[in-house]
This record gives sequence, C-alpha cells and structure tokens, in this order.
Amino acid sequence: MKNCLQELQNEFILSIQELVEISRGFKQEIDTALSGKPSSLPIVSYALNLPNGEETGLFCVLDIGGTRARASLIELQGQGRYKILSQVTYGFRDPQRDYTLSAADLFDFQANLIAEVIENCNYVVNLGYTFSFPCKQNNLNHCQLLKWAKEIKTPGVEGQDVVKLLNLALQRNGLADKINLVVTINDTVATLLTSAYSDPNTDIGSIIATGHNSCCVQKLPDGKGKIINLECGNYTGIKSTRWDKQIDLNSQGPGEQLYEKMVSGQYLGELVRVICLDLYKKGLWLKITKTASWETPYSLESRHLASILHDNSYELEKTAGVLRENWGITTPGYDDLRLIKDVGELVVNRSAQLIAASFAGILVYIDPALQHEHTIAIDGSVYENMPGFAENLQKNLYQILNVPSGQISLRLCKDGSSIGTAIAAAMIAQTPAR
Ligand code: GLC
Repeated sequence: MKNCLQELQNEFILSIQELVEISRGFKQEIDTALSGKPSSLPIVSYALNLPNGEETGLFCVLDIGGTRARASLIELQGQGRYKILSQVTYGFRDPQRDYTLSAADLFDFQANLIAEVIENCNYVVNLGYTFSFPCKQNNLNHCQLLKWAKEIKTPGVEGQDVVKLLNLALQRNGLADKINLVVTINDTVATLLTSAYSDPNTDIGSIIATGHNSCCVQKLPDGKGKIINLECGNYTGIKSTRWDKQIDLNSQGPGEQLYEKMVSGQYLGELVRVICLDLYKKGLWLKITKTASWETPYSLESRHLASILHDNSYELEKTAGVLRENWGITTPGYDDLRLIKDVGELVVNRSAQLIAASFAGILVYIDPALQHEHTIAIDGSVYENMPGFAENLQKNLYQILNVPSGQISLRLCKDGSSIGTAIAAAMIAQTPAR
C-alpha cells in the first residue's frame, strides 16, 4: 500500500517550479488566443464596463449552471449593497424531474422558475440570464451554445441561441409581457461584477464548482478595460495522468474541457473512484467482492469527497459511512479508509495547485510586473466547502508568484453568479438608448 501511495504522490503533487512552468504556459495561451491564433481557450469578450457600486433597481436573474437552475429576485441598493428578495433553486440531476429530454422541456422549466419568483411583481421586470457553458456571444443579447459541458446532455440545444430559446419559452408560458430579457453573461463574469460592485481592485472572476472557469479584465491600449471570459476549462497544456485520460475517454465529450476534468467538482469524486477501483483491481485496496454500485461512474460525488476530507475522527467513521451508504461496502479496514482519504487529499490538492497556477498566469497577463493590488472573486461549492481547498489555493498562488500576502486577495462571492448578472442588467437598463 505504501508503494502505491508513493506512486500517486509522485503523479499528483506538483512542485512550485512545475507550477511556475504551468502558469507561464497558461499566460502564453492567453496571449496566443488574444492574438487570434489557434488556441485551446475559446475566449469570449463582453461589451460591459465595470460597475461603480451605484447601480440600483430590482432585477430577476435566471442562473443555469452544471447541476442546478436558480431564479432570484434581487434588489441592488447602491453603495455596493444588495439583497436577495426571493429565490428558487432546483437540482438538474434530480431523478424525479427529468429536464434533459428535450430543449423545449428544459426552457419551459426555466420559464416556470422565473414565473415563481416574479409572482408578486405587477410591472415588467428586467431579467438577466447567467448561462454557464461554452458559448459564442456576438452581443449581450445573443448566446450560441457551442457544446454542452459538465456532463449535461439535453439534445437540440447545441448550436442554438439560448437567448432565443428562452424568449420563446417565455412566450409559450404567457410571460412575454411580464419579463424583459436584457442581458446574458457567463457565471465567471457575474462573479467578477459582484465583487467589483464594492471592490475596485477586482480584476479576475472565477467559478470553482461543478465546472471551473475564469474571466479577467483585459487592459486595452486606451487604458480602458474589457471583460474577457477565458473558458479556461478547455485548456490543454497540462500533463494528464492515466486516470485523467480514462475519465476523459468515458466522458460525454472526449478531448474537450481537459483542464476542467482535472480540477472541477463534477470530476474530483470520479477521479478518486477510478483510482481506487484501479488499486482494488491490483489487490491493493479493499478485500471485498465487487458490488454493482461501486462500478457506477460518478457514484462518488464531490460532496461525498468533502465528507471524507472533513473526517478527522480516530476511526474514520464518516469515511466508513460514505463507503457504506454509497457503495454498500460494510467491512473496510482502517487502512482502506485511510487510503481513500489520502487519494482524495491528493486529487483535491492537485486541483487547488493547478487553479493557483492558472490564476498566477492570468495575473501576470494583467499586470506583468505585479505592481498592483488585485482581488480574485470566486464563487462555487468546491472553493467554499471542500476542506482545505481555499487555504491551499492561496498558499500555492503566493508561492508561485513570490509576492507578499495581502497584495492579492481571494474573495469568496457567495451567489456571485446571480448577483453580478443583476448588476449587468442594471448597467444595461441604466444606459440611455442611443
Ligand atoms: C464550464 C463552462 C463555463 C463556466 C464553468 C463554470 O467550464 O464552460 O462557461 O463558466 O463551467 O460554471
């Protein structure tokens, strides 16, 4: 067992020097993509200014991510303050509610969520749409889905303009005269705007959740800034292990979103599962007879992994509970529990290290001599809830850049992916028509 852990550590723990190299490669890829050359970063630019904190008003936001859909009614109060007045959330992966059958079902479901939160509004409400998948956007009211990611499969949406599909669903559901869809943006952009609403140093927004991606403010020659969504989940410059390759091969889009598959919540538990299954097949983990559920892909979710990493009990009882409830494994030994926890720590640590390297690359792109203060706004369950993740990310980032702590702040922006879209809607609604 000791040898196999050593081998895993060699594959998963990256030295600071390796991380510096990765960050350089990442920065290089941003330069390549922005110069118009072929690149693995399908960058999307937004014609949006940064907020000044004085945007106000009441807005509805529909936020569609990898595992959940959420509609909110948000009041922006100015001076960087906001209030969520009402909110409804539904999990996409709820087996009782299958919205993955057809595009019409999926968009009717979204229209119904909006209807729920604007129920008591007796005037036309401006709507902002957070749509968080790889898209092509010609303007803020157009968003063509290039491909699904995060293992979503609904047919009939790829290649379509989701703004159009949502507007059609609003019409079908009798909401067209109650709702005015004014802006569609990505969740990273919304997170950046949320933080910038009260902190002008914010120039990077990131999601570390079911998926992972970052955006930043691109400095233009005239000194102004433009927000660019890097879609960095698709980055290809990182060396993968054989388990990463296996997950990619069996995924919905082999060859796509390779970096996301190494770091994001959709895949962390699955990585641990395939590594443990591999060890099991070699006789190095668990002396049990196989159970069916054990072989089921994605049967270890990142919330299970979070429980395992949280488990500091003497007997690793929580870890035993996860194995029992998830996979029906009732007789693991202490060494088996210790090993799955160690594997989990390695996988999660690598994710934090790789994301730190990408942040370092983005920071050097924005501020080559690292002269300024920067805030990185982050939303997402992995960053918020995975034990040790946030601390690890910060520690690695400071070491890669070799900057004093304090020059770069990492800021958790809870609900940032929804609030920032209300801010974008306010900026659009308050801009006088030309
Ligand atoms: C995926 C999507 C991206 C989104 C990210 C986080 O990577 O392609 O648009 O920002 O997930 O939700």
